[in-house]
Amino acid sequence: MSITPVDILEYKNSNKKITMLTAYDYSMARMIDAAGTDIILVGDSLGMVVLGYDSTVPVTVEEMLHHCRAVSRGTKNALLVGDMPFMSYQVSKKEAVRNAGRFIKEAGCDAVKLEGGKEMAATISRIVKAGIPVMGHIGLTPQTATALGGYKVQGKDLESAKKLLKDAEAVADSGAFAIVLECVPDTIAKLITEKLTIPTIGIGAGVWCDGQVLVTHDLVGMFDKFCPSFVKQYTKLSDEITGAIKTFIQEVNSGDFPDKDHSFAGDEEMAKRLS
Ligand code: KIV
Repeated sequence: MSITPVDILEYKNSNKKITMLTAYDYSMARMIDAAGTDIILVGDSLGMVVLGYDSTVPVTVEEMLHHCRAVSRGTKNALLVGDMPFMSYQVSKKEAVRNAGRFIKEAGCDAVKLEGGKEMAATISRIVKAGIPVMGHIGLTPQTATALGGYKVQGKDLESAKKLLKDAEAVADSGAFAIVLECVPDTIAKLITEKLTIPTIGIGAGVWCDGQVLVTHDLVGMFDKFCPSFVKQYTKLSDEITGAIKTFIQEVNSGDFPDKDHSFAGDEEMAKRLS
């Protein structure tokens, strides 16, 4: 039996930390799942990390569903959350419910995530009423980063901290089972975590959140275009991969690859007769 949104809520009550990581393909999903991660998020960070866009804005529902299906095939235990891309839930509540439903019916997700605070509360409530668990996301919301003045820490002054708190409460009251806090000062994240009955999952939001999420490509050092300051890189796979590829090129050029161990030995006599 895989992890459910009810389990995630229960983790908060029993002070068990929640781990969430992103995956965009089958192989990575298998590794993240086997390691024991609680939640796998097919984030719309897909757009930047895998598809090479400059932001998450261009990502489409079809692109998300394609990758969610692959991740779903590699996920056995974790709760699988699909990120709703920009403009798939803002136009109308009806469209939001229909698109959220596609993540569940067509892509094997257990829940969806969407960005926004108070202004998204009614939409979250409609999706939840349709029977689809929703994870909220406030603070730095990359889909609307331009409107927020860029990729900046949110809630640094009293007014914006108050707004964050109200947004968090609105998302929780609308029926979300968890909420991502992105780029929020740790003291404000602590306050929100204490006030809400649903778990907070932080990214650049300090140690007091109920859980932590990172983009896996950042954690393992596979995305080298930039690395946010809150990311801890546990390894640097891009160096290892580039090194392995360089060795392959050298060995092909020198004739060291493929050697006998990596070839199928044929019958030399038969080859002579054929020539
Ligand atoms: O798209 C994403 O990967 C996210 C996480 C960073 C929370 O939204």
